[in-house]
Amino acid sequence: MKKLLQIFLFLSVIGSQVFVQSLARAEQSAAASPGRERLLMDFGWRFAFGHAYDTDKDFNHATGFFSYFAKAGYGDGPASANFDDRAWRILNLPHDWAIEVPFASNGSHSHGYKAVGRKFPETSVGWYRKSFSISKSDLGRRIGVEFDGVFRDSIVWVNGHYLGHEPSGYSGFRYDITDHLNYGGNNVIAVRVDATMEEGWFYEGAGIYRHVWLTKTAPLHVAPYGTFVSSDVKGNTANVTARATVINEGMTKAKFDIIQSIVDAGGKSVATRRVKKLSLKPGDNDEFSCVIKVKKPVLWSLESPYLYKLITEVRSAGTVVDSYQTTFGIRTVRFDPNEGFFLNGKHVKLKGTNNHQDHAGVGVAVPDALQEFRIARLKEMGSNAYRCSHNPPTPELLDACDRLGMLVIDENRLMGTTPELLDQLKRLILRDRNHPSVIIWSLGNEEWAFEGNITGERIAATMQAFAKRLDPTRRTTVAISGGWGQGISRVIDVMGYNYISHGSTDEQHAKFPNQPGIGTEETTTQGTRGIYFDDRPNAHMAPLHKKGSTGGDIEVGWKHYAARPYLAGLFYWTGFDYRGEANPFGWPQVSSQCGIIDLCGFPKDCFYYLKSCWTDETVLHVFPHWNWKGKEDQEFDVWAYSNCDEVELFLNDKSVGRKKMEKNSHLQWKVKYQPGTVLARGYKNGKEVATHSIETTGEPAAIQLTAHRAVIKADGEDVSVITVQVNDSKERCVATANNEIIFAIEGPGRIIGVGNGDPSSHEPDKYIESVSQVRIENLKMQTVDGTEDRPEVAFDFNDSNWQAFKQPSEYNKEAKGPAKVIVIRGVFNLQEFADDTKITLLTKSLAEGQAIYVNGHRIAQDIKRDAPGQKYTLDHAILRPGKNIYAVIGTQLAKKSQWENLNTDPGVIQVIVPIPTWKRSVFNGLAQVIVQSARQSGEVTLKASSPGLSSNVTRLQAQPTALRPAVPASQQ
Ligand code: GAL
Repeated sequence: MKKLLQIFLFLSVIGSQVFVQSLARAEQSAAASPGRERLLMDFGWRFAFGHAYDTDKDFNHATGFFSYFAKAGYGDGPASANFDDRAWRILNLPHDWAIEVPFASNGSHSHGYKAVGRKFPETSVGWYRKSFSISKSDLGRRIGVEFDGVFRDSIVWVNGHYLGHEPSGYSGFRYDITDHLNYGGNNVIAVRVDATMEEGWFYEGAGIYRHVWLTKTAPLHVAPYGTFVSSDVKGNTANVTARATVINEGMTKAKFDIIQSIVDAGGKSVATRRVKKLSLKPGDNDEFSCVIKVKKPVLWSLESPYLYKLITEVRSAGTVVDSYQTTFGIRTVRFDPNEGFFLNGKHVKLKGTNNHQDHAGVGVAVPDALQEFRIARLKEMGSNAYRCSHNPPTPELLDACDRLGMLVIDENRLMGTTPELLDQLKRLILRDRNHPSVIIWSLGNEEWAFEGNITGERIAATMQAFAKRLDPTRRTTVAISGGWGQGISRVIDVMGYNYISHGSTDEQHAKFPNQPGIGTEETTTQGTRGIYFDDRPNAHMAPLHKKGSTGGDIEVGWKHYAARPYLAGLFYWTGFDYRGEANPFGWPQVSSQCGIIDLCGFPKDCFYYLKSCWTDETVLHVFPHWNWKGKEDQEFDVWAYSNCDEVELFLNDKSVGRKKMEKNSHLQWKVKYQPGTVLARGYKNGKEVATHSIETTGEPAAIQLTAHRAVIKADGEDVSVITVQVNDSKERCVATANNEIIFAIEGPGRIIGVGNGDPSSHEPDKYIESVSQVRIENLKMQTVDGTEDRPEVAFDFNDSNWQAFKQPSEYNKEAKGPAKVIVIRGVFNLQEFADDTKITLLTKSLAEGQAIYVNGHRIAQDIKRDAPGQKYTLDHAILRPGKNIYAVIGTQLAKKSQWENLNTDPGVIQVIVPIPTWKRSVFNGLAQVIVQSARQSGEVTLKASSPGLSSNVTRLQAQPTALRPAVPASQQ
């Protein structure tokens, strides 16, 4: 039972109480290095593909006579601490391997035709390993590893010890690894990720695509995601309830105080409370709360998203044993059944978009800074709300929404009330309930099996009550696509309408007058950016409104929601295009086209419709483009989105007509195409307030690069998003240009992805170093009578009558006489290799004092058994495409104990083909390059060139910054 101590305490002097506590020996060493550390564990992982069913290609994992489910600590294959991963690729997280593999026409439609999934067992299982050291002084602390999200079905081991299995591709999870660590030495974490099965019907990526953290605390500490801050604002005062769950993982009873301090955005402490004389038995945890008065609070709002911090200190025996930070905002939210949504008592219409998590170039491995870029782009359109469809988001997305002022529907993945599914919901709520941006929990989306029936009603009611227990301050919704009036819609707190084409919101409101409602999904004007006529072979589509389809018209949705005060607002499907759900065409289409903005964030025309409705800025936008060579005198529909009173259109200075603008609508004119300029003039109260023109441009002549930020942090994480535009000689964007552009980067930065928003582009988003492994096979051995000048190591020595290689099986303590000298030969086959291919031999000891030969050339000699290193770059001159011979001469190994398994693994050949030249075509004039800093300051230069176009350079300054504490990349 949780014991909620509602203690209204007077301000007390910190440190006035000292409790004497007897600590176990191990815990005393923790006290010597008190406090909490949270280390980013993103750098320097090793990665290789395993296999979904072929154990041989899955490094023989889980084939051991005693494997990890038989004996604790018996992780085998890459799960073993001793596994040799030297030949594996080195990479940093976040990582999405699905974005790196090619497109395949037989790939999954919903996942964007990437070569991942059931049909691609060789690219559907990925192994990650990371070595890290833990110092002796950490002994006695509680150490955990936290994964923010792995897609999906992951199993984790530390030092060969199985930690657990997480099926969800979206829920964060954590393992305590305290007891499994090697203190004062090296440790290895191994993760097997299986992306064979899909969770969603959209692109989901593959791999460890969110951050990983190593946390260290004292045994007495705030539980993971153990704080909960909520506020009650009355007049000029906020009563902030600060709850902290503290856990005692020590061996003795703990006595402690909790000091809760609120710090403003400038770092100034504004109020502090102390909850005194608390205690916890070993193994117990409890929630302790207090109410802190904040006078004249600065409220978190969309215009001014002000953030406070709560610092929770656990003080025991005169020492601060834990200090835990919680970012929060002081604000109130309310859904009203008749009047919609209120933030801080002020009515706000929710102008929202749904979004999946992927972005051009990077897939779902979105750097934190790119989250901010995406939210800022949505805000530019006047959007104030974001639905995390259909899964728990990455925490940094919510951080960006907190910082920039964006309201969030935070969504659970799968509805259900079993322990596993409720636990996913619990993890979501505990993790996210301090974010001021989160205004409501969505329990699920379009659960067709039960949304309109009694099962749905029961499941939703149970989940809703469960959510309320974890967070009584927020309401819940479910996005429902049918059966309105029945099932879930009868019990859900806030009705989530998915598409007004599915029923009548008015009827639901009349039937359930106390139930607020939001449009959780509504249709956009689907279409391809910059395309005005359907082009089926290329899977490009003109905006749906052009076909007069009401269902496909963005205006229908907004007009419906704008006209009904009882509806809190709506969320368009979608803000950004996303990979997968490649409708309506399917292959060669690989991305959706539902976005108001494309995969890169380039606006489609309908962006300006919403901007004209959703902002107070004067908006005037005319389209299509005006490059229609060969279509002279053909009639075009020219549209304008605007919030002016009237708009007049001119073709080459001749008026085509002045029209009155209806609110939340558009204007259109028939215009016969003639090259030149279409100019729109917008008027408010009879006065011209805006112009916008589209011009017939010349041929592509030059590249223009524009960085969204010219200064980035030199932390190996920050990014600048660079727009690539192809212009004519008069610096006008050529809206039909599709030139291929080549990129070169210099300085402390790297390109991490390219894109162009073309939903059917099959160009790579990423160019990566290719790291492959070649096995040394068919090992044979022969006893010889000396080690020097042996003919047996030569390439063409005839070994056809040699016996297969094996190590001695007997252990003979009394063995006398000289050990046998042996030659071992094996074969490895190389593909054709280019001059810049790096071929490295990574050996292991097959014999004592071994000498190593490749095709008869000596590479090394006198290698002590199991000596570290054993890494040799091979000169191309001694290698040949096809068959090569690896040979070893040395004395036969002897067992040191009866149980020793002598090594039979010769090692492996690593082949590295360097990163090819980065390139991407512009699509309708535009492309995007994402540049990430290194952990080193300096100038980063990106050059773009293309035959026939003048090239362009952009310079970024990577500035020194305080690095986030991180687990170092491994030394290997
Ligand atoms: C909805 C669904 C979304 C997406 C959309 C496509 O029914 O909730 O996830 O599939 O349709 O138009």
